Amino acid sequence: MSNAGCKTAILISGSGTNLQSFIDRSADGGMALDLSLVFSNRPEAYGLTRAKNAAIDTACIEHEDFESREQFDRAVAAKLDEWKPELLVLAGFMRILSPWFVGHYEGRILNIHPALLPAYTGLNTHERVLEAGDEFHGSTVHFVTEELDGGPRILQGRIKVAPTTDPQELMARVQEVEHEIYPIAADWFAQGRLSCRDGDVLLDNERLAGPIVQDFA
Ligand code: GRF
Repeated sequence: MSNAGCKTAILISGSGTNLQSFIDRSADGGMALDLSLVFSNRPEAYGLTRAKNAAIDTACIEHEDFESREQFDRAVAAKLDEWKPELLVLAGFMRILSPWFVGHYEGRILNIHPALLPAYTGLNTHERVLEAGDEFHGSTVHFVTEELDGGPRILQGRIKVAPTTDPQELMARVQEVEHEIYPIAADWFAQGRLSCRDGDVLLDNERLAGPIVQDFA
């Protein structure tokens, strides 16, 4: 799969349903993204199979083979840079990134987090939302900075938690939202409409005061 668009590497560790949403959206045409490479730190990640099925290049380096976080990150970057990516899309990449790596791709890494950030950084977000009895839940696309799940927020997909009471069901509903919003935000970047400057998000030359929020049923 190739076009003359923004060269993008998608980084995964697992199933890759978000990756699949990019593949499907690209196949439909009209995306400015060029899915150049799928990278995994786990050879068994099913997302690698999804990439191969879509004829996208893949690469894998296992983090267990490195003594430090930064040594692994430098090896990853050396591999990624063979494809000269303009954008990195983290899609279930279960690694904390070193400051070196974030600096190397400054303003060019996106992540999606399954919560309405700044609420619920970290893991087990669906369980924590249900325990707290929150009315709303969702997912956030944001630029990556050194602060875990703390970078400038771009786009949120929001749902009402009710009537769901099961974390797995809630996760499935949130993932459906992710599959809608993540390709949209990444494609804004690929079109040159979205950037991060001095900690601010610029969309179509306007500074966002907060993330754009889209409501889903
Ligand atoms: C997503 O829920 C995303 O929010 C989180 O990791 C999950 C990845 O799922 N960062 P998948 O591998 O794309 O199915």
